[in-house]
Amino acid sequence: MPPRKFSNDELSEFIDTSDEWISKRSGIKNRHFVSVHETTSDMAYFAAKKAIENAQISIKDIDLIIVATTTPDNTFPSTATLVQKKLGANAVSFDIQAVCAGFIFALSIAKSMIVDGIYKNCLVIGADSMSKLLDWKDRTTSVLFGDGAGAIFLQKFSNSDQKYNDWGILSNIIHSNGQFYDLLKTNGGVSTNQKIGCIEMSGKEIFKHAVDKLSYSLNEALKVSNKKINEIDWLVPHQANQRIISAVADKMKIDVNKVISTVKNHGNTSAASIPLALDEAISSNKILNGNLIGMHAIGGGLSWGASIIRIGKPKFL
Ligand code: ACO
Repeated sequence: MPPRKFSNDELSEFIDTSDEWISKRSGIKNRHFVSVHETTSDMAYFAAKKAIENAQISIKDIDLIIVATTTPDNTFPSTATLVQKKLGANAVSFDIQAVCAGFIFALSIAKSMIVDGIYKNCLVIGADSMSKLLDWKDRTTSVLFGDGAGAIFLQKFSNSDQKYNDWGILSNIIHSNGQFYDLLKTNGGVSTNQKIGCIEMSGKEIFKHAVDKLSYSLNEALKVSNKKINEIDWLVPHQANQRIISAVADKMKIDVNKVISTVKNHGNTSAASIPLALDEAISSNKILNGNLIGMHAIGGGLSWGASIIRIGKPKFL
C-alpha cells in the first residue's frame, strides 16, 4: 500500500461524514491513498518484487505477468507491460479488467495458460488506485475505497503422482452478468465521453448481490474441488465491507475466526484486496504452508467468482 494513510476522521475534514457512520456501515477505519505522482504500476511493481523475493526465484524465469486493474497508468498500453519493464523481465504481459473480481479472473486465466503447457512461472498481480476514480462530493462511495497492490507467484508443477493432486489451484469459478452493468460503474469512459469518469454505485442492491453471489460461487468452487466448507482452513474474501464479509460467513456457516478480514485498515482496494489480505495473513503466521484456502470476490459488471487453493509448496518438491 502507498505510505499515506487516511483515517475516517481525516476524511471527515473534507467530506460530510463521520467515523461513526463509516465504521458502523462498513467496518472501515483507515485506507491508503497514492499521491498525485504515484501510479498503479508503481504499487504493482513493488508487490511483484516482494513476491519474487519471497518465492526465491529469478526474474529471468518469469514468463507471464498478468495485472488485474481497473485503474491503469494509461488507457494503453497495459500496466503489466510497465511492470515488466520496471522488473526487467522477459515475460508475456497483459492486463485484465473485472474490477473488484479481477484477481480471481486473473488467477483463472493464469491457471489455464499454465495448464496449456506454455508458461511455467507466472506473476498474478491485483493493483488499483481507486482514489483516482472517486467523486469526493459523493459521500456514499468516497469513504469506502483505498489504494494498493498485491502479487502472487504461480509455478507449474505436474506429476502423475497422486500426492500432487491436492496442491495448487483446485478450482476456479468465474461469472459475469451485464444485466447488472448500471449498479456499479463509472460515469465516463474512453469511447463514451473521453473522460475517465467517477464511481457510481447502487449500494443497497450491490450489498444483496454480493452476499448471494459470493456464497453461491464459493459453494460451486467447493463442489468442483470436492471439498466441504469445514475443510477450509481460511476464507479470504474480497474486502469490500465488513457487513458483507460477516453476512457471507453467516450464510456459509463458516467459523468467523477462519475468515481473514483486513477491510478495517485497507478499505476496498478492488483487485488488490485479496492478495493484500493474503499477504497480511501469511505475514502474521495465520495462513501456513499447505493450508486450504477459499477466496471469492465480486465487482462491477457484475463479475464474480471463487477459488479453492492449497497454498504454498509441497515439502516433497
Ligand atoms: N456519511 C454519513 N452519512 C452518509 C454517508 C456517509 N459517508 N453516506 C450516506 N449517508 C447517509 C445517506 O445520505 C442516508 O441519509 P438519509 O437517510 O438522511 O437519506 C443514510 O446515510 C443511509 O444511507 P443508505 O444508503 O441507506 O446507507 P446503507 O445503510 O445502505 O449503507 C452502504 C450504504 C455502506 C454503501 C451499503 O449500502 C453497502 O455497504 N453497500 C455495499 C456496497 C459496497 O460495499 N460496495 C463496494 C464496491 S462493490 C464491491 O466491491 C462488492
